[in-house]
Amino acid sequence: MTLRHFGWFLGAGFGVQGWGDTTYGIGYDWKQPGVYQDAVRAFEAAGLDLLVIEDGVAVPDTYRGTAEVNLAAARFVPKHDPLPLVPYLLGATSRIGIVPTISASFTEPYTAARQLATLQHFAQNRLGFNVVTSGSDLAAQNYGLDKQTEHDLRYDRADEWVDVIRALWRSWDPGAIVEDVEHGVFADHTKVHRIDHEGRFFRVRGPLNTVPPEEEPVLVQAGASGRGRAFAGKHADVVLALASTAERMKQHRDDIRAVAAESGRDPESITVLFVVNPIPTANAAETGEVRRARSQLTQAAIDEQLQSISYLTNTDFARFDLDAPLPELTTNSNQGTLDNFVRSAPAGATLREILAARAKADGLAVIGTADEIAEHLATLGDESGADGFLFTGQVHPAHVHRTLDPLVPALRRAGLLRTGLSDRGLRANLAAF
Ligand SMILES: Cc1cc2nc3c(=O)[nH]c(=O)nc-3n(C[C@H](O)[C@H](O)[C@H](O)COP(=O)(O)O)c2cc1C
Repeated sequence: MTLRHFGWFLGAGFGVQGWGDTTYGIGYDWKQPGVYQDAVRAFEAAGLDLLVIEDGVAVPDTYRGTAEVNLAAARFVPKHDPLPLVPYLLGATSRIGIVPTISASFTEPYTAARQLATLQHFAQNRLGFNVVTSGSDLAAQNYGLDKQTEHDLRYDRADEWVDVIRALWRSWDPGAIVEDVEHGVFADHTKVHRIDHEGRFFRVRGPLNTVPPEEEPVLVQAGASGRGRAFAGKHADVVLALASTAERMKQHRDDIRAVAAESGRDPESITVLFVVNPIPTANAAETGEVRRARSQLTQAAIDEQLQSISYLTNTDFARFDLDAPLPELTTNSNQGTLDNFVRSAPAGATLREILAARAKADGLAVIGTADEIAEHLATLGDESGADGFLFTGQVHPAHVHRTLDPLVPALRRAGLLRTGLSDRGLRANLAAF
């Protein structure tokens, strides 16, 4: 009976929700805020700490050299910018944390510091930001580069990016705003400082030209490689991670906490959340049916897996024979994702066998009755020490309610899910236990 933190990862970003799923019906326009506002209200009522909104900045056409599969199935595209959605989500709620994704590689730190400061004022301490370094060459080509900067170098740059942003947020001392009408002083100029940052990657004079928020937004990060974990351990308040066993979860969390301690931080101040895709069923028969349906390796399932791995690794997997083993592969993008993909089946397996093994293992899915899922998460949490879990899924109402309506009471019965959120902000809610 240990409370865990829960959140929702909107993996499709501010994009099409549930297109092609015949059970979803119609009536919502993904391009408008309404569907996300309804979802975030449900998340807040359920007691979830935060909503993380994925983002990327390219139309994927790596797989088969065309965007056909992605556009036909609305995968990764189209996608609105998540930042303008944030005020709508804040306006619909009063307690839950809202976490848009922002690319350290493609956003100037001054712009990011200013946008996030503005939003955190609206959010009254409910804002977080998911810092990504964006591995996609296609994205890099939208920002004047031929290909993306080398993986570890991106993190070196992101280290400095975070330092600059924090320096800008600290460029106004507490008490700088005096609003002294009698003496004609709005702000005290001795308390507003230039930062004069001259680094390897950025030159920023400062100060920030708006008032920084009282509480800095919560820094969320999902680095998985050694370099990524070092970045997360040094800077992140919340770490998002993928791991399929309690042992791997424990290892991941231990790594992050060790880096944090080496950087002089209190490891207890970091919340490590593991992504799961809960699929509640009514009974064992339905569990079996859902498992069977999801493990079928249809052509659509093959395309789905291949377009995704192609995009995430900048490698066109259509080049490889489905019935031959994969050649040795490396990527400058998501090496960890590629390694996991290759290791899904025993060495020497064909690409088709890898795809079949992945369909069968069904990665992040936890399928069962709500009580079985709650029990599974309780055990995973106890064995790994995970601070909590991030549910992933599209936020079409049918999916949200199909997932949360049975699961929330079960998680409460199991003593895992808090009964309510305070209105003191995301940091306070994360620190509550
Ligand atoms: C839960 C989760 C959410 C992520 N969200 C994004 C995202 O919105 N945009 C993005 O470009 N990358 C995203 N990533 C990728 C990570 O930022 C990171 O690049 C990836 O986990 C690989 O780690 P590495 O960069 O250390 O190799 C996400 C990863 C995870 C596990």
